[in-house]
Amino acid sequence: MNMKINENFLKLSENFLFSLIAKKVKAFKEKNTDKEVISLGIGDVSLPLSKVVIDALVSASYEMGVKETFRGYPPEFGYDFIKDSIRKYYKKNNVDLDLDEVFVCDGAKSDLGNMVEILGDNRIVIPDPVYPVYVDSNMMAGRNILLLEGNEDNGFLPMPDGLSLEESVIYLCSPNNPTGAVYTRYQLEKWVEYAIKSRSLIIFDSAYEAFIRGDYPHSIFEIEGAKSCCVEISSFSKLAGFTGLRCSYSIVPKEILGGVFNKIWGRRQATKFNGVAWPVQKAAEAALTEAGLKACHENIDYYLENARILSNVLKKHNIWHTGGFNSPYLWVKCPKNMGSWEFFDYLLENAYIVTTPGVGFGESGEGYVRLTSFSTKENTIEAARRLDIILENLR
Ligand code: MLT
Repeated sequence: MNMKINENFLKLSENFLFSLIAKKVKAFKEKNTDKEVISLGIGDVSLPLSKVVIDALVSASYEMGVKETFRGYPPEFGYDFIKDSIRKYYKKNNVDLDLDEVFVCDGAKSDLGNMVEILGDNRIVIPDPVYPVYVDSNMMAGRNILLLEGNEDNGFLPMPDGLSLEESVIYLCSPNNPTGAVYTRYQLEKWVEYAIKSRSLIIFDSAYEAFIRGDYPHSIFEIEGAKSCCVEISSFSKLAGFTGLRCSYSIVPKEILGGVFNKIWGRRQATKFNGVAWPVQKAAEAALTEAGLKACHENIDYYLENARILSNVLKKHNIWHTGGFNSPYLWVKCPKNMGSWEFFDYLLENAYIVTTPGVGFGESGEGYVRLTSFSTKENTIEAARRLDIILENLR
């Protein structure tokens, strides 16, 4: 065959980060069937969906089996009822949205990756370390990527200081995956100011906003001027435990490029996406009701308590870490100057704990691992007990 392929794909690492970890863990489990492996790796929730959500899901599923209430293709951008619920959810933070600025989808990962398609060959600015989807999907498109180093000095929250005034597409994630660091209002104001001055676009990933308990913006649109230069991508996965159900949304303001960006995103979605299933949209709507949000926040409090348990054991051994407050992730410096993969292997082999190597999120993540608090309380307590022993031995 003499077909041309997109050679950009050949420049990617062979496996997506979480697929590689899953392979390694599978191989370890096959060889060590007697070991109880605990995952503090991928940020997948462990608590079941709330009753409010399940009731909506079940009743909407039954409707699909009844002639009068059966529904076929959903609207590509979401039913008005769910868009309206999202609009009201934003209103709690004094953000006004129009219904046609809300696009419901099957996952933030899809939208983050797909949005590259409607952007031309701009400079891409991405903090490092960060959720690997931003870099990988821009590499697939052959884009020119500028990484902004996150480190202990800047609290893993790079700022635009020193960045040349060039039209760019900038990815920001706050609360940050993987570091758990959260941009303050002042810092986001600086980013929006930079975007306006440099005529750039910010793609703001707020998938973890529901974990914010302190006084930080939940949405980039809380910042004045943001609607002219930012889109926001968020999800029901971490808010309401929808990792297995799949529902997310993107907010694409009509102010960007005089409405063109909103229009072509809609054009892209209408061509390549057929909407989210009716029962899932009804479940998402239920998650945003008062009772639904109460249940979501109870679950998030549970995960935040797990984070506190993990943080306590790290503190006991003077291990530098960030996150865990306002975020489900703890970003942990490897002891004894170990590399990320080295400590990953060490914990897997000696404590049967799965983590995520920091370097998998970018070069600036070398020397760190990420722990997630999404496990069950029992497993988190047991993981903390094992960590305590391991860290004692490594002193
Ligand atoms: C993570 O562990 O970083 C996330 O769960 C992955 C994702 O949201 O796709």
